[in-house]
Amino acid sequence: MSTPGRFASGAEVREGLARVGYLADDAIAGVVYLADRLGKPVLVEGPAGVGKTQLAKSVAEMAGARLIRLQCYEGLDESKALYEWNYKKQLLRIQAGRHGAEHAQGAGPAAWGDVEEDIFSEEFLLSRPLLEAIRATDPVVLLVDEVDRVEVETEALLLEVLSDYQVSIPELGTVVATQVPLVFLTSNNSRELSEALKRRCLFLHVDYPEPEREKEIVRTRVPGISAHLTDQVVGIVRLIRQMDLKKLPSVSETLDWAATLMLLGAESVDSDLARETLHVLLKYQSDIAKASKSLAVGGA
Ligand SMILES: Nc1ncnc2c1ncn2[C@@H]1O[C@H](COP(=O)(O)OP(=O)(O)OP(=O)(O)O)[C@@H](O)[C@H]1O
Ligand SMILES: [Mg+2]
Repeated sequence: MSTPGRFASGAEVREGLARVGYLADDAIAGVVYLADRLGKPVLVEGPAGVGKTQLAKSVAEMAGARLIRLQCYEGLDESKALYEWNYKKQLLRIQAGRHGAEHAQGAGPAAWGDVEEDIFSEEFLLSRPLLEAIRATDPVVLLVDEVDRVEVETEALLLEVLSDYQVSIPELGTVVATQVPLVFLTSNNSRELSEALKRRCLFLHVDYPEPEREKEIVRTRVPGISAHLTDQVVGIVRLIRQMDLKKLPSVSETLDWAATLMLLGAESVDSDLARETLHVLLKYQSDIAKASKSLAVGGA
């Protein structure tokens, strides 16, 4: 397996990410740099919409690598995560073997051993994301998205891949990666992940960004927005995040709100406009009512 070493420093990661439109802080860039150096996966945890999935996508873009994504969900199993045998094609092969034997003069039916060897060969294997990442010869980034959605037992599927970068296929043998891929796992922390999984990963907590970084994100993702409107948007979102709400506005909601205000041709936000557009930032009526009341009093 080739040794990793795609980036020279954390600072280089940060600059590279900024070039592809992802604004990381030192902690994020530092963990990505270390993960590459140590050949370890990164477990990215944090609230919804703070850029966990985007981080993996942007690292792939920055590194010129192909992104292979395993979207996790309840009930995800080996056949969707690792590999499965192409059952229909195997059946066809068996039938074709029988016909061939019937028509061949004097030849006996094909020996079962030969057929078996044939139908459990490469040609009949369907690679799913984990195996695909292990077998890749081009640069890849593997994203195991929302890993907290699978059952604890299913997590075990990941362990061999994440610690040894290999997959065992009983009929074929063990497939070992020729290169250590960059791996990102994301979690919203909807349940506690197993110790075994955590031990194999570097841990990265991504939270709502500091105001300066959020402003940079807004300027990068909402082209043409003025510095004044950016300051106001980020300032108001920050105030709202301090309220006791069911669901705090995330970075993606800040971006949606900024884009909405731009569409409306607003040069600045007063408390009336903020209240009229709160539904872009907040997704519960009770939250909207609470924030609306407080913005009216505060006169944002
Ligand atoms: N640091 C950042 N730099 C640039 N854009 C960002 C950043 N963080 C978040 N974003 C923007 O926010 C959007 C949402 O991010 P993303 O989908 O990665 O969130 P998430 O943390 O994976 O959320 P969820 O937990 O709901 O899956 C991205 O598409 C991106 O536009
Ligand atoms: Mg995500």
